[in-house]
Amino acid sequence: MATPHRASPNCVLLLLVACLLHHRVAVESLPDEAGLLLQIKRAWGDPPALAAWSADASAAGAHCRWPYVGCDSAGSVIKLALASANIIGAIPDAVGGLSSLTHLDVSSNSITGVFPTALYHCHSLRYLNMSWNDIGGELPGDIGNGLGANMSTLDLTFNNFNGTIPASLSRLRDLQHLALGWNHLSGSIPKSMSKLQNLRSLMLQENSLAGTIPAELGKLTSLQELGLANSPFDAGTIPPGIWGLKKLRGLSLCENQLTAGDVVVDGFAAMSLRMIDVSDNNLTGIIPEVFGHLRNLTYLLLFNNNFSGKIPVSIGLLPLLRILSLSSNRLTGTLPQELGKHSLGLSYVYVEDNNLTGQIPQWLCAGGQFEQLGASNNLLNGSIPVGLARCHTLQYLDLHSNQLTGDIPGSLGYDMPLLQTLNLANNELSGSIC
Ligand SMILES: *[C@@H]1O[C@H](CO)[C@@H](O)[C@H](O)[C@H]1NC(C)=O
Ligand SMILES: *[C@@H]1O[C@H](CO)[C@@H](O)[C@H](O)[C@H]1NC(C)=O
Ligand SMILES: *[C@@H]1O[C@H](CO)[C@@H](O)[C@H](O)[C@H]1NC(C)=O
Ligand SMILES: *[C@@H]1O[C@H](CO)[C@@H](O)[C@H](O)[C@H]1NC(C)=O
Ligand SMILES: *[C@@H]1O[C@H](CO)[C@@H](O)[C@H](O)[C@H]1NC(C)=O
Ligand SMILES: *[C@@H]1O[C@H](CO)[C@@H](O)[C@H](O)[C@H]1NC(C)=O
Ligand SMILES: *[C@@H]1O[C@H](CO)[C@@H](O)[C@H](O)[C@H]1NC(C)=O
Ligand SMILES: *[C@@H]1O[C@H](CO)[C@@H](O)[C@H](O)[C@H]1NC(C)=O
Repeated sequence: MATPHRASPNCVLLLLVACLLHHRVAVESLPDEAGLLLQIKRAWGDPPALAAWSADASAAGAHCRWPYVGCDSAGSVIKLALASANIIGAIPDAVGGLSSLTHLDVSSNSITGVFPTALYHCHSLRYLNMSWNDIGGELPGDIGNGLGANMSTLDLTFNNFNGTIPASLSRLRDLQHLALGWNHLSGSIPKSMSKLQNLRSLMLQENSLAGTIPAELGKLTSLQELGLANSPFDAGTIPPGIWGLKKLRGLSLCENQLTAGDVVVDGFAAMSLRMIDVSDNNLTGIIPEVFGHLRNLTYLLLFNNNFSGKIPVSIGLLPLLRILSLSSNRLTGTLPQELGKHSLGLSYVYVEDNNLTGQIPQWLCAGGQFEQLGASNNLLNGSIPVGLARCHTLQYLDLHSNQLTGDIPGSLGYDMPLLQTLNLANNELSGSIC
């Protein structure tokens, strides 16, 4: 005879499940976010920076006043700003319990482990900065499905991520800043990146990315900064569409084994460029005249390539030019003679190892900011201009192996407190330096 009081095993199980469900609902409706923060603190081994996070101070809502924590008006944690807090260890799963979190900055710590998929539970997350840490492994393939659709900043710079760039990132349509530089990522840049129409900066430099630079990047019409330096991209050309990006301000493609063809073709529209760095490639053809029409161009770095032809005179008219580096190409003709006259912030000019002829421009120091001129190994002639010989801000002057003539100006070296390097060897100069 069955005893009515003995519960069947199934029943016990049901009870247990009901119990668990009840517990879960309770936790979800009344999240003890102070408790979660304390769990996070414990997982990180109670770092001194978080000493003020304490159970004593956990009276209702008190955690919203803990350092590094930000809450919304309803008292939910929306922000953890933990940059440079000397934190060591992986991101604990408890972070995923902070369901209203929009901003997580753990940059510049010693965070380890792999990419914390617990963050997939933070559906409102917009800003995630885990740069300058020690996080590694592959980026999860479903990262773009997992992270909240409102993500606008993802900065993973300077970590140890390897594997490929997940194509799913292109699902994060609100993404404005994507920074994966200084990791060990390989494979090619997914063509689907072109779907990120709100992207303003795409920084992938210093990885091991290969393949060609996808022409699709030319469709990223909001792009202001593009950093692809130092990856072993297959010898290929710069996709012409990149020069059509009207908002582009910074372009860094140095050390990429790019080659072939003229740099700029038809359809140039990137008039907002402030920095062009395509140094250390195998680019050929001429320096495009249009570079001299970029009113905001400040840094023009074309060194270690195979550019030939003349330096456009218009480069000498750029009002904001600060650094001009054209060394180690096959350039001929003269330096723009008005270089420095219109660029009052001009500081550094490097044109070594070319076949430049004619005179050294007399205006280099006109703006009072000029520091360094490297022009050795050319065919420059004429004398050393007075304006340069009286340049009080000069630190470095290397003119060796040219065809300079005339007297070394007596003022050279006098009243130049910052001058460290002066090399005039292998010219036809007369006189001496005191
Ligand atoms: C991420 O944090 C680093 C270091 O604190 C900071 O320099 C960088 O600007 C941040 N990135 C973004 C996209 O805000
Ligand atoms: C995403 O952003 C929109 C617009 O600001 C907002 O209405 C929505 O609630 C956000 N979604 C989440 C999950 O926070
Ligand atoms: C990524 O790094 C981890 C740990 O160092 C290693 O086990 C894994 O094989 C690497 N993956 C790739 C694709 O290199
Ligand atoms: C340029 O091309 C030459 C020959 O094709 C190659 O040896 C050299 O490594 C290349 N240089 C760069 C910086 O890509
Ligand atoms: C140059 O910079 C100024 C100041 O930031 C800006 O107002 C102007 O629109 C820029 N010009 C171009 C062509 O981008
Ligand atoms: C540089 O260009 C010249 C033609 O102008 C070519 O003969 C030479 O091979 C190129 N050098 C490199 C390293 O690409
Ligand atoms: C300079 O011209 C000479 C003679 O034409 C040539 O042999 C040399 O390769 C050229 N050097 C550069 C850096 O273009
Ligand atoms: C410098 O060289 C150019 C040709 O390259 C020549 O026309 C000019 O007369 C020379 N100037 C001086 C001062 O030697």
